[in-house]
Amino acid sequence: MGIVLSGGTVVTSEACFAVDVRVEGEKIAAVGLQVQEPNDQVVDVRGRFLLPGAVDAHTHFEDIAGTVKTADDFFTGSRAGLLGGTTTFIDFATPLPGETLQHAFESRRSQALGRSFCDFGFHMTITGWGQSIGSEMEKLVKLGVTSFKLFMAYKNDLQVSDEELFQVFQKTAELGGIAAVHCENGDVIEVLIRQALKAGNTSAAYHALTRPPAVEEEAVNRAVSLAMLAKAPLYIVHLSTREALRVVEQARLRGANVYIETCPQYLLLDDTYYAGSDFAGGKYVLSPPLRAKDHLTVLWAGVSQGMIDTLSTDHCAFLFKGQKDKGIHDFSKIPNGIPGVEDRLSLLYTYGVMQKKIDLCRMVSLTATKPAEIFGLYPQKGTVAVGSDADIVVWNPAEEGTISAATHHYALDYNPYEGFRKIGQAEQVFLRGEQVVTDGQLSLAAPRGKYLMRKPFANTVYNNERKFEYD
Ligand code: URP
Ligand code: ZN
Ligand code: ZN
Repeated sequence: MGIVLSGGTVVTSEACFAVDVRVEGEKIAAVGLQVQEPNDQVVDVRGRFLLPGAVDAHTHFEDIAGTVKTADDFFTGSRAGLLGGTTTFIDFATPLPGETLQHAFESRRSQALGRSFCDFGFHMTITGWGQSIGSEMEKLVKLGVTSFKLFMAYKNDLQVSDEELFQVFQKTAELGGIAAVHCENGDVIEVLIRQALKAGNTSAAYHALTRPPAVEEEAVNRAVSLAMLAKAPLYIVHLSTREALRVVEQARLRGANVYIETCPQYLLLDDTYYAGSDFAGGKYVLSPPLRAKDHLTVLWAGVSQGMIDTLSTDHCAFLFKGQKDKGIHDFSKIPNGIPGVEDRLSLLYTYGVMQKKIDLCRMVSLTATKPAEIFGLYPQKGTVAVGSDADIVVWNPAEEGTISAATHHYALDYNPYEGFRKIGQAEQVFLRGEQVVTDGQLSLAAPRGKYLMRKPFANTVYNNERKFEYD
């Protein structure tokens, strides 16, 4: 017996079709007209869009910034994601000092198993280079971890040197993987922070002022150049500025194999949130910081015109009271990050699709297809097609509401989008054929998310799209 979703409009990154979808077991068995078989259960989805379950390629659930643990763990974070239409996330495994990469990965996987409502994978964070790192990276690829995350910021913590960055890029290229990089010049930021604090400038506004656009632009330029030299594909996480976007556009003209992620916060929230004499700006302390409005306009253009490949959230939630307020007298002590995993699709639908900045196909591309392709999950994830996992979001465009901490599902005492209108709702969600959200409510008792083995980037169809042409 299968399930037929009947009367809706299937949306892929390429087109919208008025066809039915038949699900059998965990997979999509048919997409078309008259796909029903005897004994099938028929679900009426007239007036709804059938989107592929969204893939969030950048979350921080149950993560630690310094000594502060994120408010959302795998359970609450993935539950919120599912309710917003995200069925897959890729989080991070970050080794503690002295810990092997494999051990860090195994412990993250065990933490998430049995507690994640979504299917999941991990990027491996690399914090240095030594004899063993290269061979550990090889093992990781065999375990389905095919992307390596590096930080050019967070000095004395996660930041790597250029030498380390370059060596990891070379190894990534050799393994057919992809490097994902946080691009900000951490050395310069440290100087600016020291100078600001010395001058008595301690408010949250100085978080943004000590991480100006130029520190992102410079780091993106450096990362792109070194990745080209190493022949490594590069994924720039949470790009936030007009200048950095231009750097990538220029590099692509020279054949750079570079992909860009941005996040809802860099499209919808600007640096005026840091203004004001109270500590409310602390809620918006994240890195890179929110930018002036003209950056938002350029990033929207990048999203509509296809220069920006993916929209992930960088969901990294800290309580306003008890965590963010540790930095009330010193902005450099505010834990960095904001939430977004539940709100991503409704924000993009409301402020992108409804405002005619993008069409539905582009929304699907940004939130599901491209992240799945880039990170080796496609076509298992990221599309509605025969043979793909039956991860389907029944999107009701007629539902409207308002984003609020009073109703969100994060384990959090504020929502950065408080009061934002939202149009559309993940009314029903299927994860590998099982209905997990019904009428916008969670409809399964226990988390069933499964660890996903990801293919190396070099083996993905997507790899052929942009080639190195600069040799
Ligand atoms: O402020 C942020 N983005 N926190 C999460 C860690 C990171 O840099 O992605
Ligand atoms: Zn980052
Ligand atoms: Zn992040």
